[in-house]
Amino acid sequence: MEKKLIFLGIETSCDETAASIVQENLDGSAKVLSSIVSSQIKEHEKFGGVVPELAARSHIENIEFVIEKAIKDSNISLSEIDGVAATAGPGLIVCLTVGLNIGKAIAGFSNKPFIAVNHLEGHALSPGLEKKIQFPYLLLLISGGHSQFLIVHDINNYEQLGTTIDDALGEAFDKTAKMLDLGFPGGPAVEKFSKEGDKKFFKLPEPIINKAGCNLSFAGLKTAVLRESKKIKDNKKLKYNLAASFQYTVNKILFKKTKIAIQEFRKRINKERPQLIVAGGVAANQSVRENFYKLSKEINCIITFPDVKYCGDNAAMIAWAGIQRFKKKLIDEINISAKSRWPLDPDAPYMKGPGLKL
Ligand code: KG4
Ligand code: ZN
Repeated sequence: MEKKLIFLGIETSCDETAASIVQENLDGSAKVLSSIVSSQIKEHEKFGGVVPELAARSHIENIEFVIEKAIKDSNISLSEIDGVAATAGPGLIVCLTVGLNIGKAIAGFSNKPFIAVNHLEGHALSPGLEKKIQFPYLLLLISGGHSQFLIVHDINNYEQLGTTIDDALGEAFDKTAKMLDLGFPGGPAVEKFSKEGDKKFFKLPEPIINKAGCNLSFAGLKTAVLRESKKIKDNKKLKYNLAASFQYTVNKILFKKTKIAIQEFRKRINKERPQLIVAGGVAANQSVRENFYKLSKEINCIITFPDVKYCGDNAAMIAWAGIQRFKKKLIDEINISAKSRWPLDPDAPYMKGPGLKL
């Protein structure tokens, strides 16, 4: 007999301590019964970036409270849960271990199945929390640690079309904010101050724009921002112009490279109007979203973003990925350990480091 599935999700891969209870209804739609995210912005603000040891300590301090609150807010008891899912990678090992261990312990003592979730699969499936998405689709994942184009064929079945060869896009936003002293976390700060700047004031480079297929590169852009930031010192107007020009250039790069990725997708999959999903922290950026709405009209594809609250790290997407994996019988042993590197497409070439040929 078919029944609704309810999972507890736990996420501690970076600087958010999160827990969530998600239900899959009989028609396959999702219902988020609770989603608690405790952000560590205050702890890392003075360093202008995430400090792994501080992040791990903060996870240890907060995790019990966050899980208890997620269970309480959902109005269900632990005994009604069908399984536990926790992020097992990629990410900072000292951080991952906190959520993973407590997830395994809860699954163990309550005798429930345990699912070790790839954080990137959580982002990849996150739009499913709000609407049903048909496979296959093209995913652009833009977060603090990753920037990749993937064909999502199915749960646990990914084909990488392109990736960044250096910095992740979120990282480039964070570093730009730091160089311009705009505040932490960097992405939202750059977005905010860009609104006050002239986006065409600085002509910034668009690295590897006409080569390397749909691979991405942001290091050259970041270096150009550094160079210009040294010249403008404390001139606020110029700072905002530089933030706006950075964001504008990012959008131009994403526009052109996504066009190439869609061509690649169309070569492999025959769909008149392909589905494009843009997920991860940077997908919360309104100018990025508007850029993709424009692009989707030009290339005749359906564009979907997760709700802004599910773009950044959260545990609802981990619980949801856990449910989907459970349905495919992808259940893990309780002795599974955390992985710092865990590509969604195991056959994808490693694109960083010396000797890379474009
Ligand atoms: O997905 P996420 O929460 O964590 C990772 O898996 O990395 O993404 C975090 C990244 C950070 O680099 C953050 O600055 C960026 O997403 N971000 C944004 C915005 N909100 C978050 N970047 C640009 N504009 C935003 N509004
Ligand atoms: Zn993430």
